[in-house]
Amino acid sequence: MNPMKTRPVRFLCLLWALACCDGVAAAAADRERLSLDQGWLFQLGDVPTSPIKGHGSSYYNGKADGAWGAATADFDDSGWRRLDLPHDWAVEGLFDPHENASQGYRPRGIGWYRRYLQLPPSDRGRHIELQFDAIATHSTVWINGILVNRNWSGYNGRNLDITPYLRYGEDVNTIAVRVDADAMEGWWYEGAGIYRHTWLVKREAVHIATDGLHADPVKTGKGWTLPIDVTLESSASTAHRVTVDVSVIGPAGVELAHGSVPATVQPLATADARLRLEVRAPHLWSPRDPRLYQVRAVLREGGRRLDNTEVQTGFRTIRFDPDHGLFLNGEPMKIQGVCIHQDHAGVGVAVPESIWEFRLRRLKEMGVNAIRFAHNAPAAEVLAMTDRMGLLVLDENRHFNPSPDYLQQLTWMVRRDRNHPSVMMWSIFNEEPLQGTEAGYEMARRMVSAVKSLDPTRPVTAAMHAGLFTPINAAQALDVVGVNYQSWAYDRYHKEHPTRPLTSTEDTSAYMSRGEFRSDQGAHVLDSYDDEPASWGSTHREAWRAIAQRPFIAGSFLWTGIDYRGEPSPFEWPSASSFFGAIDLAGFPKAAFHIHQAHWVKDRPVVKILPHWNWPGSEGQPIKVMVASNAPRVRLLLNGQVVGEGSVDPIDMASFDVPYAPGVLEAVALRGAIEVARDREETSGPPARLVLTPDRAALANDGLDAVPVTVSAVDAQGRPVPIANSLVRFDVEGDGKLIGVGNGDPNSHEADKARERSLYNGLAQLIVQSRRDGAGSLTLHASAPGLQEASAELTLRAAPAVPSVPSAEPLTFMLNWRISPPQATRADPNVVLAGNDMNSWGWGEPPMRQDPEVQPFRLYRSELNVRADTNDGHALLTFRKIAGSAEVWVDGVKLGDKSNPEPGPLSVLLPRGATHRQVTLLVQSRPQEPSGILDRVLLERGRR
Ligand code: GAL
Repeated sequence: MNPMKTRPVRFLCLLWALACCDGVAAAAADRERLSLDQGWLFQLGDVPTSPIKGHGSSYYNGKADGAWGAATADFDDSGWRRLDLPHDWAVEGLFDPHENASQGYRPRGIGWYRRYLQLPPSDRGRHIELQFDAIATHSTVWINGILVNRNWSGYNGRNLDITPYLRYGEDVNTIAVRVDADAMEGWWYEGAGIYRHTWLVKREAVHIATDGLHADPVKTGKGWTLPIDVTLESSASTAHRVTVDVSVIGPAGVELAHGSVPATVQPLATADARLRLEVRAPHLWSPRDPRLYQVRAVLREGGRRLDNTEVQTGFRTIRFDPDHGLFLNGEPMKIQGVCIHQDHAGVGVAVPESIWEFRLRRLKEMGVNAIRFAHNAPAAEVLAMTDRMGLLVLDENRHFNPSPDYLQQLTWMVRRDRNHPSVMMWSIFNEEPLQGTEAGYEMARRMVSAVKSLDPTRPVTAAMHAGLFTPINAAQALDVVGVNYQSWAYDRYHKEHPTRPLTSTEDTSAYMSRGEFRSDQGAHVLDSYDDEPASWGSTHREAWRAIAQRPFIAGSFLWTGIDYRGEPSPFEWPSASSFFGAIDLAGFPKAAFHIHQAHWVKDRPVVKILPHWNWPGSEGQPIKVMVASNAPRVRLLLNGQVVGEGSVDPIDMASFDVPYAPGVLEAVALRGAIEVARDREETSGPPARLVLTPDRAALANDGLDAVPVTVSAVDAQGRPVPIANSLVRFDVEGDGKLIGVGNGDPNSHEADKARERSLYNGLAQLIVQSRRDGAGSLTLHASAPGLQEASAELTLRAAPAVPSVPSAEPLTFMLNWRISPPQATRADPNVVLAGNDMNSWGWGEPPMRQDPEVQPFRLYRSELNVRADTNDGHALLTFRKIAGSAEVWVDGVKLGDKSNPEPGPLSVLLPRGATHRQVTLLVQSRPQEPSGILDRVLLERGRR
């Protein structure tokens, strides 16, 4: 391997580690956490293999490296598509009425990913871990043809110790992943493929385990204690006596506490290093003021630093009171929460971090203080954001099942997420039919206990939609009882179980289409006046009223904060995504956003007119106008004339009927006689010009940063046209790419991966992403027939690239050889070795050196898979070093020989032919001299 290839990576890693202070990408000089996202090969569809028959195939099939087809190291993937992760292939597919409505009518299927990587010889002896943050849905992973993991959930990450299977130096390692997305776990769009990040983490043999630093502050009487538990792990072959140093760094970057503890780590074992640190009067974490602390652990042996890691944490207390709900830091706090899934317009579930930041920011603007990630744990980066942005989290496990496979998914979540101050509570299930049974109780009890053994500080809940009043039920195993929808049960449950804290875990489920104010069932359009609840749900206002009026209910988690693909209730085809969101799939606010803003925002005046004021043809007819405001009173003016005034019900808002006349409709929010805020809607003319509004003016040139850009239309006077539906075409110039488009219309079948999109009620979105190391600026263009074009410029800001492992090129090394016994006379290179004889010939991998022997002839035989890109008659089959004279035979034909018995190379041109060949090398040793294949054998692409 070219050493130049690795040095810049390490250097960048250092730079990045220094620059990065978020708890996920732990700053560490000694470990390397390298992105593996780039340079994968992908094939949609399964790769069929022949049935295994006969002794030879059956025998190999039972071996550690007995993989078949695309799982093998030397499989021919030369025709596969090259792409970077994260990747969601479902969002690339076309809508199909025969596919599953719940999954958004997108085909799912099976897909394969492969990637090559080389490791410098200096990595030998280190601990190398392959991390997949999530793959949808079921997946199997092979390294160099050795099966290393099967995982049956699309929502958990896994950290695979691949050290034993790796090769170093010029050898190329192959990662193969089979993804089965026909398997489903949800009734919502789940995406398909390796849709979160992949990493290669290199550490010393003795190191801190992944997610092995647990530091979650506990309030003690007057002060705060940080009980710290560092899990150490060793792949070394001897015991090591080490020291763990832990320090707590405050928000100002100053070390506030420090401690050390010795530990002994036995070979191939784990050890826990525990200590307690005291922190006096820390600045508390809260949604209003999300102050973060860093906890750093450094592992040393003697004077040598072996490893370090860092997590972010925060000081805060959480208490659920049966009469008064949630107390954060001793203060009562009503949960103003939303449930959300994880897909976004244009990108499916492969959502860039910056788009997550955009989504969470929108929710915060709405007054949201808590998020339930339904019904699965989010990506790690998202929790780093909720910590930073001040959003409480209900972290939910996917599968209700305490059997070992599933329990591992639960404990993975708790271990990964238990340092985050934003995570306030765990949820072990959502709406499980067994919830009201003895089995449900017994299962819940076991899962709660597993959570408590890893995190004694946070309460555990579950989202129950029945079974609350049966004699034995899951609620009895929970700290906080979570109720989905059954608002009728709030009072009864509280009365019958006055000591059990209660929260809504899910409520509302009301439908609306963004920008629509007249329902049209036939066209699958639902108005925005909050009068379309699901039969099992309530309107936004009713749901919040039931919760706001009951101090013993900790709060609300409305279904849902943001629309998602799939579950297009109350409709089916052609509707393909949800109508529940307060925000549409592209992040544009619906009326419910403004209603909740009025409910939830306390620190600034809110006033919003619903609907828009473009009703051509309705002149003189009454138009329902709802004004969402947190002010006590509003006055409505049409073209300067008062057309209504009244008090605002803090839950129901204020509604008026206003005879339509084009012009300016204004709502003035009043506190007493004082105007505190004002909103206006103005009738506009036909669309004349497009407008592009990027969410930010610059983006980092790290190849990851993505910016959502709003596309809208204005009339000749520059007024927004909320009913414009033009088809807009996009172009991106410069070092960036368009990664998706959307418009929030749940009935749209336009492609997500496209260069065009229709406006839906005046708005669409395109998402642009930087190219790695891009420079200058990006220019975006939008054009539509009959409209003046728009362009916008985004500056590319230099940012350190995430350190990554470059993808290697496939190199066919022939590693598995059979070796005949020595013979006195020339052996027949075409001799058939019986398929059931696994023993009379030996087994080996180059170098295969035979000591001087009396009988000089030996055969070496191996199988060769010829990639299409080497099967052109120009490829060279090279034996780097053979001791003895030799002949090369391929499929019964002699291709070349080496008459000089001195150790030396032998290369032959491989003729075009079958993809699978048998290679036999006949070696004749010199008397008293060693012989054999002394170096690598490889097939190299030839030059024409
Ligand atoms: C709930 C369920 C959610 C969603 C919602 C729609 O029963 O937990 O995942 O399906 O209904 O109203």
